[in-house]
Amino acid sequence: MDVEDSVAYYEPYDQIMPKKQVDLLQLWDFFGVPHECVKQLWGRVLPIIGFEINARALTATLPPTLKAELVTALREFAASRQRRLHEFHEIAGWSNWSFNVFPLLKPGLANVYAKVAGKKNPNASVYINCAVKDNLTWMADHIEQSSGTFFFENIDWHPLGDAD
Ligand SMILES: *[C@@H]1O[C@H](CO)[C@@H](O)[C@H](O)[C@H]1NC(C)=O
Ligand SMILES: *[C@@H]1O[C@H](CO)[C@@H](O)[C@H](O)[C@H]1NC(C)=O
Ligand SMILES: *[C@@H]1O[C@H](CO)[C@@H](O)[C@H](O)[C@H]1NC(C)=O
Repeated sequence: MDVEDSVAYYEPYDQIMPKKQVDLLQLWDFFGVPHECVKQLWGRVLPIIGFEINARALTATLPPTLKAELVTALREFAASRQRRLHEFHEIAGWSNWSFNVFPLLKPGLANVYAKVAGKKNPNASVYINCAVKDNLTWMADHIEQSSGTFFFENIDWHPLGDAD
């Protein structure tokens, strides 16, 4: 535990907190993950927009049921011949949300974005080409095989640089 020997000021909450927790909050801010002042909950498992965040272990977990739903949705999408534009945006948004736990899968959406770029009518049918099929299947495979838990400590992230 590094509670006393390393603390930092987190301005949005006007609080001194363990440095690692401040880092975690800044990481969420960076990713745009909403969070509330959870001072009294430190050390417990917090449900945050579907992820279980363990502030002490510094992990974010996608619960098994949500993980399975996402995998199914990706596979069904990949198996379709065409989908409406708004469905492309939905699967992209859902995948994007899961990148909080699976940041390495971000390249999997590149072809999805390329496919919908410049299109406006949400009802328009958009064909699902091989690249989109391959990439969504690749994402589904990786998500299915993963533990669903992301360890913030294992990566060297300093999204905001060194705070001064
Ligand atoms: C992906 O998610 C991040 C925050 O989690 C957000 O800032 C970004 O706009 C999203 N991108 C798309 C294309 O939805
Ligand atoms: C899309 O389709 C739905 C149902 O078919 C319809 O109610 C809606 O008005 C359509 N929207 C656009 C922008 O075409
Ligand atoms: C996406 O699909 C294309 C075409 O199959 C492939 O070349 C590319 O490596 C894939 N990218 C990822 C991240 O799977």
